[in-house]
Parts: sequence; structure tokens; C-alpha cells
Amino acid sequence: MEASKQERRRKLRDIKRFNNKKYKELAKKKRQHIPESAYLTQMRDPNNLLEIDDLHTFFYTDTGTVKAIDGVSFDIPRGKVVGVVGESGCGKSVTSLSIMRILQEPQGQIAGGQIRYNQAAQNRALDLTKVPLKMMEKLRGGDISMIFQEPMTTLNPVFTIGQQLDEAIKYHTEKLSKKEIAARSVEMLKMVGIANAEGVYKMYPHELSGGMRQRVVIAMVLACHPQLIIADEPTTALDVTIQAQILDLLRHLKNQINASIMLITHDLGVVAETADYVVVMYAGRIVEKGTVQEIFHNPSHPYTLGLMKSRPNFVGENDRLYSIPGSVPNPIDLPNYCFFRNRCEKACAACAGTYPEMISLSDTHKVACYLYQDAQKRKEGE
Ligand SMILES: Nc1ncnc2c1ncn2[C@@H]1O[C@H](COP(=O)(O)OP(=O)(O)O)[C@@H](O)[C@H]1O
Ligand SMILES: [Mg+2]
Repeated sequence: MEASKQERRRKLRDIKRFNNKKYKELAKKKRQHIPESAYLTQMRDPNNLLEIDDLHTFFYTDTGTVKAIDGVSFDIPRGKVVGVVGESGCGKSVTSLSIMRILQEPQGQIAGGQIRYNQAAQNRALDLTKVPLKMMEKLRGGDISMIFQEPMTTLNPVFTIGQQLDEAIKYHTEKLSKKEIAARSVEMLKMVGIANAEGVYKMYPHELSGGMRQRVVIAMVLACHPQLIIADEPTTALDVTIQAQILDLLRHLKNQINASIMLITHDLGVVAETADYVVVMYAGRIVEKGTVQEIFHNPSHPYTLGLMKSRPNFVGENDRLYSIPGSVPNPIDLPNYCFFRNRCEKACAACAGTYPEMISLSDTHKVACYLYQDAQKRKEGE
């Protein structure tokens, strides 16, 4: 009895020490001075709000290095919606966590690449992988906001909707009286399509349905006037009709506020009507990207074709819903050939070769697949 008590005490003490150490390390990291030259950078194209360039994000675990993001590059132009699609485990969320710098440290680390953010208001570009944590905290919420799958990640259950919305508005706008702030909050609730806005203002989150909560979250995000909104599966937890309403809302708001949206989803159907550009991810890499027309009229990578085929509204030969056989591999020690090869219907002899290069089908349409190597060669021969 005594021994186990002592052991428990020792364990608790160890945990306390460990937490203290971690806290001190974090505090030190926050205080650390990083010179401007380390994080100021140049945009490749000033029309882009964000340029992700050869990003690598790894998790160092007991079982090996998880290469969750392994050389991902894509742009988010100003005022556009970029859809990021792929099955569960492809690295979509880790991409957004890398942008926000909220990775689970110290296991999770950005191991390479740049994330260039165009902070036009201050006439400069920042490499988000390098900016000091203090600066990142300011950017979060203000410049870059996130909508999570589960609205309660953002909402606090012990405060009313009004209190939380007021707080967000107070933090991000110039001096307003209490009355003016409340009026602004109600206005925001109306803007996101809440009919009984005055009533909802006084309610607690638990009194609302999932769809209503997600609307409130969107109102809070808008109150911060972000330049970039990252929405990670914002409708996955909702039922289908509500899903469509929330997507309608995002589309509608996009035109009103001129922010860029990065819309993450496992469902290609969701991006079809919402996105301007589409990025298809597989096992931590981009297998295809292009404009929404290119991806939907000329889907080229067999993985994209598989995702298309598994959309519920696809009219197939039989009534059963199609799903791509097999599953996404865990990105530890992946072989140096196409990661999709083992699941691919169109795999050929060439696919045994090294991981395929990105091939340009047009200025905007790129695909990493051996099936299009001839097209590339023809283009080079021209
Ligand atoms: N904290 C973590 N530790 C180890 N591996 C992780 C961690 N978070 C994510 N991963 C791995 O990174 C890969 C990508 O995950 P994620 O970005 O969440 O996928 P999704 O596309 O479903 O959002 C997965 O293989 C996942 O197991
Ligand atoms: Mg995810």
C-alpha cells in the first residue's frame, strides 16, 4: 500500500516537472528574438494571398517519422476559394495546422519549405514557418481565421452567443459603445442567416442545433475581418440539407467580404460548386491540381477519377456506391514509387519507377502520374 502511494507521488512529481519544463521551453521560445530578415520574404505573384512552397511537415514518433506533408506546393489567390480534397489521412488538416502554426509540438515540426503570406495592409510578405510565435498569435484570428468541423471547438459552453460575439467584435474593431457592439453582433447573426437573431444573441451554445452553431462560428470569424479563412470540413458534422445551406452561406459571403477561403473536405461534391481551384492530396503529396473546371471536366489522376466515382450523386452502372479499394497508407517509410500504385486501376509498367514528377497539362492543371508522361514529352518537343 505504502509503496504504491509513494510510486504515485513520484509519478505525479515527474509529470509536474515535465510540464514545467515544457512550459518554460515554450515561454523561452516565445521570448526568443527572431530578426525580421529571418521571416520577411517576397511573394512570387502579388495577386496571391498565400503561397505554400515545398512544405514538409513531419511527426517524429516512436514508430518512425510520419511524413504527413511531404513537399506540398500550391497558391491561394486573393478573393478565391481553394478546395483541398482527399480521403481521411491524406494530410489536409496537417496542412492547415502548419499554416496556423498550431501543430502538436515537439513531435510535429515543419521540416522544410515556406508558407508566404501576403500582408498587403503592411506592404510586406511573411514566411509563416519562421515568424515569431508572438506575431503568429496576432495573425491568428485577425489575418487568418479557422472554422473547425466541430463548432464547439470554437464556442465556449459557459458564455452566451452574444457575449462571445461581442468579445470578438470588441477585440477586432475600434472603440464602440456597448450598445453599438451588441447591435453589430445582432447584425452579424442576421448576415449569416439566423432569423431570430435577437433571441439567439441571448442563448447559450447548447440551446442551438449543430447548423446554427456553425453559423455562429462563421459570424465570429467574419467579425475578425480575416484575409484568409481556413474551413476544415466545416459541414462534415452536419446533415445533408444543413450542409448545403452552410456551403451556400460561405459562397455568398465570399463575394461580400473579398477574403480567400481554403476549403478542406473529403467530398469532391462539396468543392464542385464552391471552389475556384482544387488541390487533390494523397498520402502527404499533391497528385493533381487545377481550376475547378479542369478538375471536373478533365479529371486526370486515377485517384481523382476514383474520388469522382465515389461521389454519392454519380450515376454508375450499378446502384452500389463505389469506393476506391484499399486505404490511404500511413506515411511512414513510404516506398519511392507512386504512393497510389497499389490501389490504382490504371497502373502500368512505368509505375514501378521512381515517384512521378508533376506534369503540366496546362498552365494551371498539373498531375503527378506516368499516364501523362507522353503528353509532357510532346509538349517539350513542340
Ligand atoms: N499528432 C500526430 N502524430 C502523429 N501522426 C499524425 C499526427 N497528426 C496527424 N498525423 C498523421 O498525419 C497524416 C495526415 O493527417 P491529417 O492531416 O489529419 O489527415 P486528413 O487529410 O484526414 O485531415 C495521417 O497519417 C495522420 O496519422
Ligand atoms: Mg482532417
